[in-house]
Parts: sequence; structure tokens; C-alpha cells
Amino acid sequence: MKRLIWVVVVLSFWNCKTSVEESFKKQPMNSKIVVAHRGASGYLPEHTMEAKAMAYAMNPDFIEQDLVLSKDDVPVVIHDIYLDDVTNVAAKFPERKREDGRYYVIDFTFEELQSLNVSERFDPKTGKQFYSNRFPKGKGSFKLHSLQQEIELIQGLNKSTGKNIGIYPEIKNPEFHHKNGKDIAQITLEILSEYGYISKKDNCIFQCFDAKELERVRKDLKSDLFLVQLIEFPEETKQLNHFATYADGIGPWYKQIVEKKVDGKWQFTSLVEDAHKLGLKVHAYTFRADQLGDFSSFEEHVNTLLFDANIDGCFTDFPDKVVNILKQ
Ligand code: G3P
Ligand code: CA
Repeated sequence: MKRLIWVVVVLSFWNCKTSVEESFKKQPMNSKIVVAHRGASGYLPEHTMEAKAMAYAMNPDFIEQDLVLSKDDVPVVIHDIYLDDVTNVAAKFPERKREDGRYYVIDFTFEELQSLNVSERFDPKTGKQFYSNRFPKGKGSFKLHSLQQEIELIQGLNKSTGKNIGIYPEIKNPEFHHKNGKDIAQITLEILSEYGYISKKDNCIFQCFDAKELERVRKDLKSDLFLVQLIEFPEETKQLNHFATYADGIGPWYKQIVEKKVDGKWQFTSLVEDAHKLGLKVHAYTFRADQLGDFSSFEEHVNTLLFDANIDGCFTDFPDKVVNILKQ
């Protein structure tokens, strides 16, 4: 009897877990994944807990965490190695800037970092807010947080809502971390493992722009997570065969996929087709309703990339809007 109960418990646990692969196969709308880029960053200051909770309520498939280590090796959820374009560090710790005039996350302990106020992104030289129609700069009360704190928020909400939203962490500038004697990949993988993110069966996608480091994550650090190789420069799109030796997907800028409009129809590069032939998923960045580029509407932006170009998912500052378009 005892053994039967254990089998039932183990099977129910197994069934309630959603793997990355399964989340691609869910309902038709979820065959295209939506990644909340820095949270619901179109509405609240990026990478704040508030932006993550709001994103969660919008039902994306994944919520993104960009990571930089603090002086005491805590992975902090923040987009840049610098602090001065999203916090009040210059006012609070004026004497702590480096010779280049910048304030670095890595120079502050996690306790110090938590004492800063986080704001909507701005230019540290002029003080001007980057996206003028977003949350007003300097208003509200927002703080930095760690990867662990964010995972606990998302896993806690998964439990209380019954949903299963994944995480999509990115280690930022691993070379800079190595130069400062820190192994951000190793530290991040250990934390992910502590929280149950170990293999492709777990709802986590690990991303990095640095190809050497992502290859190291697979081959030397032996990670079995779903890995996405981010692509910054056009020439990197020629290395797909190599990326396929260690990665499960690529994350290009959407402009590396869309070429131009001819007679009212968008033309595409061969990137998506080439990646698919190698079995690589394509998650393009970054879809912003307030930065449309050459598209005439956000709907056109989303439909052109997700359906006409056939990408598998997108990073967006406006997860609610993409989720709604996919529902239609
Ligand atoms: O990581 C992919 C996406 O987030 C775009 O890059 O610069 O916003 O981290 P970035
Ligand atoms: Ca990112």
C-alpha cells in the first residue's frame, strides 16, 4: 500500500511539471512562445518585482531575468553591468564611480544594492527618460532583487495560481565577470539546480550572447538545460552549424530576419529556415509597441514575424498585447 502511495505521489509530481519541450506543444496559441522581456517592462520599470508580477498576470510562457553578479557573488536581476541608468546610485554613492564615470554592479554588495531606488531607464548624462511615454522616471518605490528572490516569486505564483510559467535567465557579459575573478555561469547554474531547473524537462531556458561561454555551459559545465544562443551581429548568423553543436535555439534581433517590403509583402532572410533545418528554435527580440520600426502597427510586427517568418517565439515589453494577438 505504502509503495502504491509513493508511485501515485511521484506520478502526480511528474505530471504537474511542464518541460520546455511540452510548453512548445501546448494549445495552438502556445506553440509560439511569449517571453516577458525584463518583465512587463512596457508598463513598469524593467526587472523590478512589480514588473515581474504584472508580467505573470499577463500569461506569458516565460519571464526573463538578465543577470549580473554583485561584489559578494549574488546574481542580481538587472540588464547592464552598470547601475547608473536605472538607479539613484550616483546620488547615493557619489564617491563609488570608476574612472570611466560609471557605477558597476560588481563593486557593490547585495545589501548595498538593495538600498538603491530603481527607476524607469534614463540617460545618465542627461537624465532624460529613454521611453518617454512609459512609467514616469523617479516615481514609485522600486528595488533591485536577486535571481533567487525572483524564482521564489514565480514558483510561488505557479503554486498559488496553478499556472506553470517558466524562467528565461541570461548571464550578462561573462568575459567581464571572468576578468573580475567571477564565474557567473557556474554560480547561476548552481542556483537554478537548487530550484529544480536542471534539464530540458524543466521550464527554464538559459541564454547568452557570448558563444564561447554558452558552449562552455553545455560542454564543460555539462548543463542539460535548454540553451539559446543570442545573436547580436549579422555575421554571427553564419555560425548556425556550430551553434547547433551545443544550443537548442537561437535568439536573433528581429531585424536579422525581416529584410524589406516589396509590393506590400515583407521579404525575409533565410535565417529562420536555416535554423529550423538544424533543429534550432528561433526566439527573436525585442517586440515593442512603442518602437515599431518599419511596421505600421504592433499587430503587423507580431504577425509578420511569428506567422509569415515562422519564428517560434518572441521577447516583448508588452506581453499582454502579444498574448492577445496570438489568441486571435
Ligand atoms: O536576451 C534577449 C533579449 O533580452 C534582448 O537582449 O539586450 O534586452 O538583454 P537584451
Ligand atoms: Ca536579455
